[in-house]
Amino acid sequence: MKSVDRAIIQKIEKLRKDIHRHDYLYYVLAEPEISDFDYDKLMRELQDYETEYPELVTPDSPTQRVGGEPTREFSAVTHSLPMLSLSNTYSEDEIREFDRRVRSLIPQERFEYVCELKFDGVSLALRYKDGLLSIGVTRGDGIQGDDITQNVKTIRSIPLRLNNVKVQMPDCEVRGEVIMNRKDFQRMNELKELAGEKRFANPRNSVAGTLKLQDPKIVASRPIKFYGYSLHSPKENLKSHYENLHSLKKLGFLVDNNAKRFDNIDDVIEFWKEWEAKRDTLAFDIDGVVVKIDLLKQQEMLGAIAKSPRWAIACKFTARKAETKLKNIRIQVGRTGTITPVADLEPVSIGGTTVSRASLYNEDYIREKDIRIGDTVIVERGGDVIPKVTSVVAEKRLKISKPFIFPAKCPECGSNLVRLEDEANYYCENSECPKQIRGRIEHWASRGAMDIDGLGEAIVNRLVTNNFVLNIADLYELNKYRKELAELERWGDKSVKNLLDGIEESKKRPFHRVLFSLGIRHVGITVAQVLTDHFSSIDKLIDSSDEELQTIHEIGPKIAESIERFFSESHNRKIIERLKKVSLNLHTDKKKISGQLSGKSFVITGTLSSMTRDEVKELIEKQGGMVVSTVSKNIDILVVGKDAGSKLDKAKKLGIELWDEDKFFSIIKK
Ligand code: IVH
Repeated sequence: MKSVDRAIIQKIEKLRKDIHRHDYLYYVLAEPEISDFDYDKLMRELQDYETEYPELVTPDSPTQRVGGEPTREFSAVTHSLPMLSLSNTYSEDEIREFDRRVRSLIPQERFEYVCELKFDGVSLALRYKDGLLSIGVTRGDGIQGDDITQNVKTIRSIPLRLNNVKVQMPDCEVRGEVIMNRKDFQRMNELKELAGEKRFANPRNSVAGTLKLQDPKIVASRPIKFYGYSLHSPKENLKSHYENLHSLKKLGFLVDNNAKRFDNIDDVIEFWKEWEAKRDTLAFDIDGVVVKIDLLKQQEMLGAIAKSPRWAIACKFTARKAETKLKNIRIQVGRTGTITPVADLEPVSIGGTTVSRASLYNEDYIREKDIRIGDTVIVERGGDVIPKVTSVVAEKRLKISKPFIFPAKCPECGSNLVRLEDEANYYCENSECPKQIRGRIEHWASRGAMDIDGLGEAIVNRLVTNNFVLNIADLYELNKYRKELAELERWGDKSVKNLLDGIEESKKRPFHRVLFSLGIRHVGITVAQVLTDHFSSIDKLIDSSDEELQTIHEIGPKIAESIERFFSESHNRKIIERLKKVSLNLHTDKKKISGQLSGKSFVITGTLSSMTRDEVKELIEKQGGMVVSTVSKNIDILVVGKDAGSKLDKAKKLGIELWDEDKFFSIIKK
């Protein structure tokens, strides 16, 4: 082994320590101190050292999170202690019964309960040896689970090395739950849909599906998190579950901060009821609360029966499902003219919220489930926020129930509704439909779009009904009416100034955001980015042919047709001309093009060991380059990772310049 300079060893150790700290700040405390870009820089620096000195790579190095190769099969591992399940209850009486039973089993003891959230995710056991993560195991049948260590390592909220071994826990097992936030789940499903893949039913299924993936690299890209809920150590130095939760936090785990300790069952019941009402305020799903006896000594005295301990109980929330009557079916008009049928329901309480409307998606959904007006139906509130009618209670169908006939006219403007071939939805064809006018402006101003502060639904409604604004271009001429606006009831100079400032500020949004904000059907933010990568200005996009659009990998006939359709309307073209005049970004930012990769177009293929493709793409763009997805004679460089396939062959045939990972980084670093 060549001897390595002490200074280098120290440098590597410092980098690892810093990255660990930033991981903890970002993934556990949600208080990052540095930008993603600076973080990536640290990571790359470490990677470079490790490539040069492979003998210095340690298993807890942050670079090892995504190093794993795909596995064919997970091997079975026997749990050090069985992973028990909890007995369930849904009723206050049974919770009181649980309390009485505990009191009768340990009559001489005074005890306290720890109440915590019951995560609706997938449980996981983590073993640490000498402070290092050694293995991650699924629950399996409770006795044996699957070794999914390679996948587990990619979860950034799981420490590869325990933070604070001062807590004296070098060898221990941590158990907890892997979850996905509802927002991340919805975003993931949107992406899946865009890619033409099947949606996951709820966040829990998507976590379960993710943990079973054979390729850790894909796992790494999924937004999942681990919350610790129990700590086990072979040494007898643990005393109380509540203290263990605090130790877990010190060791570097994400722990639910809502856990509370009570000495009587009334408070426990109140905690349960409180969380049933508040569950939607959390970013993730919970399906109840777990009540545990605090002292481990007392847990041991109580022991377990069959598969569940006597010292704990899961107090579940009532299912988010209810039976009610469907009074009527109405249709709603969305911002792009999409018509959605909505069920008017006899109000019913589901999981603490009164529900009186539910989505019926489209005509086919209603027909497949044979949902009729007057039916008794089952309504569910799942991972998606909007309740949905999931089935009809057939035996309760009345003779007078009527099948729903889809209306022929728009309820807002009376125009004809059309249903395009291959699409499930009807559309209102009239782009001047008042509902669409407001919808387009609301979408334009919304957070993911132009993000105009102070321009929400109510204000849009006001501006439109008072005829100040009829389309998005009008917004940028509103300053002409400053005085008139301030005279509107309850407005005043300050709010008007804020609104106008917000509108002015929005001129800074980049081209892809503007394109997305136009609200072209099927052009979400990702597609918009793809388009602006390809076309450097809106004029180039407008002039492109259907055929040209479809040569872009992500653009299929449906999207291409929708784009053509949008730009063929003279009304839309006029708006774009006006937006150009007020200098919105309708072309790629010139500044970008001044980097060293300026004007060059790239395709990335295969897997790169140190970065995801998105990260590579971002780097290229930061330096003025452009990334496209198909190899053609028009591209300049192909960045080639491992296992590259047909793109590499094609590029070779066309004589395109090839850069491997090392070459790419050495050029980027310059
Ligand atoms: S403690 C022996 N605490 O619920 C008790 N479990 O049926 C071990 N769960 O599979 C579990 N949140 O995945 C515990 N705060 C929490 C929990 C929790 C969710 C899950 C866990 C287990 C199931 C119990």
